[in-house]
Amino acid sequence: MQDILSQYETVTENAVKEWFKVGLTSDFPENSGACIKYKTKQIAVYNFARTGKWYACQNLCPHKMEMVLSLGMIGDKEGVPKVACPMHKKNFSLEDGSNLAGEDLKIATYPVKIKDGNVYIGFSD
Ligand code: FES
Repeated sequence: MQDILSQYETVTENAVKEWFKVGLTSDFPENSGACIKYKTKQIAVYNFARTGKWYACQNLCPHKMEMVLSLGMIGDKEGVPKVACPMHKKNFSLEDGSNLAGEDLKIATYPVKIKDGNVYIGFSD
């Protein structure tokens, strides 16, 4: 179990080695999530059309190790963009991956870049 989780580590924009193209902006639903694959990772991508921002994080919910976060409801908590896991509704910040209830659960987040109508996610491996 731990091995599945350990392949996900937050990537900051400065640490990006590869901007991986995942599709056209129009391929992604508005105000909702989608899942893409990079090597062995499943990554959830969110198109916050309301604010014009995009976020990416591991698709794996660290609570019960379910690949479900792309199906979660998105929104914000006091201005912090978040996703709620569809299983037990744990809320994670899409800015830093922290659990918004202060629990010791964290998800990896990845930078997203939009260029010429294409969506890129930054990886460091
Ligand atoms: S599996 Fe995500 S909150 Fe329980």
